[in-house]
This record gives sequence, C-alpha cells and structure tokens, in this order.
Amino acid sequence: MKKPDTISTIDGLRAELTALEEKSQLRRLAQMEGVNLSSNDYLGLSTDPRLARAVADALEAGSPVASTGSRLLSGNAAEWEELETAFACFIGTEAALFFSSGYAANLGLLGAILRPDDVVFSDESNHASLIDGIRLSRARKVIFPHLDLNFLEDALRRSDSAGRKFIVVESLFSMEGDRAPVAELLSLADRFGAELIVDEAHATGVFGPQGRGLVAAAGGNARVLATVHTCGKALASAGAFVCGSEVLKQYLVNRARTFIFSTALPPYFAAQIGKAVEIVAEADGERGKLLALAGFLRTHLRDAGFNIGTSDSQIVPVLLGGNDTAVRYADTLQRAGFAVRPIRPPTVPEGQSRLRLSVTTKLSEEVLDRLIKALVAARDADP
Ligand SMILES: Cc1ncc(COP(=O)(O)O)c(C=O)c1O
Repeated sequence: MKKPDTISTIDGLRAELTALEEKSQLRRLAQMEGVNLSSNDYLGLSTDPRLARAVADALEAGSPVASTGSRLLSGNAAEWEELETAFACFIGTEAALFFSSGYAANLGLLGAILRPDDVVFSDESNHASLIDGIRLSRARKVIFPHLDLNFLEDALRRSDSAGRKFIVVESLFSMEGDRAPVAELLSLADRFGAELIVDEAHATGVFGPQGRGLVAAAGGNARVLATVHTCGKALASAGAFVCGSEVLKQYLVNRARTFIFSTALPPYFAAQIGKAVEIVAEADGERGKLLALAGFLRTHLRDAGFNIGTSDSQIVPVLLGGNDTAVRYADTLQRAGFAVRPIRPPTVPEGQSRLRLSVTTKLSEEVLDRLIKALVAARDADP
C-alpha cells in the first residue's frame, strides 16, 4: 500500500516543476561560464593567494580538518573565540558570534530574539533569511514598501502593540543595490522606542570605514541591537557574524537554534576569515576601484536607456518585468560570453524580474563596455 503514495507524491512534485517551467520560473543548477557577473566576490579575494596561504598554514600547524561537534559540545576552538573577538573589535561592538552561514545567522538571531507579541517592521525587499526568521518567531509583522520611511513612521506611530518593536532592514539591498538611510532609521527607532536590526551582508567589506558597513558609516553600532555581517561575499569565505552586545551574544549562545544545533565549521576556516578581515580593512584602494567600476556601469546603462531602478552600489539590477524577458536576455548574454542569471519570483516580486549584475574588482571598464553592448544587442533582438 505504500508504493502508490510514493508515486503520487513524486507525480505531484513533477507537476509543480512543470508548472514552474510553464511560468519560466524553473531553476536548474549550472556551471557559470564566461565573464562572471553574478558573483558576490566584490573585492576579488576568492582567488587571493593570501587566503589560501592562511588555510594551508593553519593545517600545517596541526589544525584539525573537522570541528567534531556543535560549539556548545566538542566544536568550540580558541581560533573561533579569537576570531569573534577580532571581528567585534573590527566592527566596533562589544561582541560577535559566528554562525555557519548568513542564512543561519538571520534565522538564529530573529528566531531567538522575537516573540509572538512583538511587532516587526520589515522592508518588503528584505532577504529570504530575514523573512524566514521573522516567520519562525511568529511575531506580528508589518511589511513596509521598500525604503518608504514615511510609511514606516506612520506604522510605528499607529502601532498599539503591548510587545516590543523591531525594525529589520538590509543596509545594502541584495536585489535593488540601493542603500538604507541608516541615520534616519536610527532616529526613527529612537523616537518610537524600536530596536534596529541591520543585515550588512552586501555592505560588509565594501562600504563604511575600512569596509565595516553602513551602520559603522553612520556611527550607529552602539545604537542598533545587532548587525549581521556575512563572510561569503566581499570576505570571500563563508559564515556570518552577528555583532552587538555581550549580553546579546550570550543570549544567542543559549537560544539561537541554528547556532546550538549545528556542527561548527572546522577551526582552520577561522584562519581564512581572519586573513580576509585583515585584507579588507586595508583595501580602500580596491573599494575605490570597485565603486568607480560600478559607477561606470550604472551611468552607461542609464545612458543606454536601461532601467536600473534605485541602484547606488556594486549591485546593479536591469529591470525587465516578465520572467520570459529576463530569461531571454540572460540566454542571449550567456551566448555572448557573460555569466548572467535571470532573477525571478519568489526572489523578487511578480512582474519585477530582472538581471542582477554584480560588479567585482576582477572586471574592467573595457569588459563592462562589452557587456553594455551585449545588453543593447539583446534588447534589439528581443521581440
Ligand atoms: C542580504 C542577505 N542576507 C543573508 C544572506 C545569506 O547569507 P549566506 O549566503 O551566508 O547564507 C544573503 C545571501 O545571499 C543575503 O543576500
């Protein structure tokens, strides 16, 4: 009697995949070939020999290749504790706690902190990991239109909740490439007694003094409850730090389920992240180059008549609308030698499909110029 059930489950899954394909929303794993415009390796550190050396040195010095358990069991190591201290010092907070991914950090942080009688004010463009963390907490949520601070102010004023209030945003939005006005958010949070939580995934290493992020740029680290800094993007590693007070850290060690119930990364990996932080802190020249290249791309795309929305960073969306259009453009660009992926729902809302161009220091004006020409050709060829 078991077999028919199994078959019908698989048939159901297949039917859903077919439905996704019909909406041009089916994803497939593929190797990226050609000029990489989808990478979050903003400062080009993923192939930096200094990072490889740091890992090799740690292993040669006898660092084990596995952590063997959760940090609360056998998986803690001096390397992780030292790295957390160094990272907190870098960001300018009392403490930092490392999670094995940014997704785990956001889920762990929000799932631990928020309670069902709290109200969370969440930007509509927030990353899935923030959305899922809020969902998991069962806190009440108010989703405000992207960076609409008038709406947010009004909602904060009208909120009559007995619980606490939290504002959750990204500092540099991953699909829009625009930046949250952190100073204004801090003052709104102050005025309405709300806590601010800021995901600095795409700003870490790129914006702020020494690449410490946009909260640091606004001098706000002591005024936010937490910032989240992923290591898989400009730091060319993996994992993420939640930065904040020592009390917050100790609370998360006790309550964040993605921290508690998950095997720690091996200690040699801390050496890679530590070296990446050291390099990034000194990388003003590379940051300047990155932002100049991104400015070049934005200006020339706008001049060529493309809609790049409100992008003001190294993330440059080309807004196209329908799924089919985004898939067609991406296919044409891939055939022209550019590794570009279409971004479709649920990553972005229906009708807002796009290409997400990600600028890194490995690119050049000459390559970006060719990319713009290829985009113009894709538009000319489009029905
Ligand atoms: C804004 C934002 N937060 C969190 C994450 C998750 O980070 P990770 O890839 O380390 O899980 C991402 C990843 O794309 C992101 O863009």
